[in-house]
Amino acid sequence: MRLADRTALVTGGASGIGAATCRRLAAEGARVAVTDMNLDGARAVADEIDGRAYELDVRSPDQIDATVKAVEQELGPVDVLVNNAGYDEWGFFTNTDQELWRRVLEVNLVGVLAVTHAVLPGMQERRRGRIVNVSSEAGRVGSSGSAVYSAAKGGVLGFTKAIAIENGRYGITCNAVAPGPIETPLLMAAPEAFGDLGKKLVDNMIGGTVLRRLGQPDEVAAAITFLASDDASYVTGQSLGTSGGMVRL
Ligand SMILES: NC(=O)c1ccc[n+]([C@@H]2O[C@H](COP(=O)([O-])OP(=O)(O)OC[C@H]3O[C@@H](n4cnc5c(N)ncnc54)[C@H](O)[C@@H]3O)[C@@H](O)[C@H]2O)c1
Repeated sequence: MRLADRTALVTGGASGIGAATCRRLAAEGARVAVTDMNLDGARAVADEIDGRAYELDVRSPDQIDATVKAVEQELGPVDVLVNNAGYDEWGFFTNTDQELWRRVLEVNLVGVLAVTHAVLPGMQERRRGRIVNVSSEAGRVGSSGSAVYSAAKGGVLGFTKAIAIENGRYGITCNAVAPGPIETPLLMAAPEAFGDLGKKLVDNMIGGTVLRRLGQPDEVAAAITFLASDDASYVTGQSLGTSGGMVRL
């Protein structure tokens, strides 16, 4: 029970890695705020773990402020923030436009900044906090068909390091995980949407891993939970690959 008496807020907690993280954090004793733009999905996860569900679209500054306030009133000050919400729109870069760039950056990069901005002052006052950002191997090595997503996830890694540096004096740590191909609706949408090309894309990613298989959401959740716990008390500004030893995407 490494997180007994801690309050954790997870974005994108209704599905995949976020849902697995909510389950892990709860199993370690945390009170979990399961937040997602999909409120029904968040409720289903919260019901399983005796947590609380909140509707939170990370693109909405008003919803972010209201949710952080509600969580702090109902579950207590946020000790652990997991910035997990994310999505992608596949396509080669020359086929994308500024509208797509805006949409993808708004969720995957600005959303991380915005939720952190709302939670961090309270952590600084209390002089404790753990922030874990869900980046991607795409942000470290680049992913074909996901240039804008790769830019956003690379941005999250730089942000993670800067927040770690600015907040070390408060005893707050900020780290990232960089998942490889994880079997979630996000990744499996590729074969569904693009048929053989999508399947090839996923097979290619699996081929880039040393372990030669897809990862499971819980295998990422385990790393996130470690970084959220006191077991990682001397770890900050780091990015932990949770990608089967991925060497290329
Ligand atoms: N699955 C992979 O292979 C993989 C690899 C690397 C990184 N990631 C990252 O892991 C994180 C979780 O992805 P997943 O694979 O579990 O996907 P998923 O689609 O299963 O879950 C993502 C969740 O985020 C929510 N979400 C999307 N946009 C949102 C918004 N604007 N505000 C609030 N919630 C929003 C969705 O409703 C969904 O519940 C993402 O940041 C993703 O980029 C996933």
